[in-house]
Amino acid sequence: MESLNDPKLQAVLERLHAAARGDRLRFLPLLPTLLPLLFSNKAPPAAEQAARFKDVYIPISRAQGRFLYLVARSLGARRIVEFGTSFGISTIYAAAAARDTGGMVIGSELEPGKHRAACANLAEAGVGEYADIRLGDALETLADVPPPIDLVLLDGWKELYLPMLKLLAPKLRTGAVVLADNIRTFRWTLAPYVSYVQSGENGFGSLTLPLADGFEYSVKL
Ligand SMILES: C[S@@+](CC[C@H](N)C(=O)[O-])C[C@H]1O[C@@H](n2cnc3c(N)ncnc32)[C@H](O)[C@@H]1O
Repeated sequence: MESLNDPKLQAVLERLHAAARGDRLRFLPLLPTLLPLLFSNKAPPAAEQAARFKDVYIPISRAQGRFLYLVARSLGARRIVEFGTSFGISTIYAAAAARDTGGMVIGSELEPGKHRAACANLAEAGVGEYADIRLGDALETLADVPPPIDLVLLDGWKELYLPMLKLLAPKLRTGAVVLADNIRTFRWTLAPYVSYVQSGENGFGSLTLPLADGFEYSVKL
């Protein structure tokens, strides 16, 4: 069974990916906010950034979504954790896998309008019951996720990838996978994260996959 091929789910993904193409125009007025974020770990508070970016999707690509689905299936992932849900595009791919593995996605979104929209989009795609999207700061809302975690997607604000990884790492099972998006675009901001997972000193094996603008694939060893 491959829930990702469900026509109803694919129709919702098609609509959302098409809507996300409008990000290009929506980004123009946000450039003064975005540019400093590319180069520095010092960022405005997460909620302030979320309010500014409330209308942009900034989703993973279709190929990344399919990869996320396949990794989840390969792991037989039953507990998938997502940092940064936005309108729910990546969550739909993960929830499709959760439906097929008997698992669950625990997502997180700081912006209330996006949280509402993501819940509605997952329900429309027919996978709402496989996702628990928590409203609020993921550093708090994901703190009580129980072990074992099989798969993590990091796609929220970049300066928080490393704190999120450190929060979740003790609950990752051996062989768990952590995927992290936008490695090349945010190469300066994400340098501490990449060296943490690639150093070999922190319990991970890792490489940057050439998917979209760099998808870090890290395995808990
Ligand atoms: C790049 S978008 C996520 C895109 C989504 N993964 C997808 O593929 O459709 C990042 C999202 O993370 C959310 N976010 C950032 N920091 C957060 C935090 N500390 N807690 C919860 N959500 C956060 C933002 O509001 C934004 O909607």
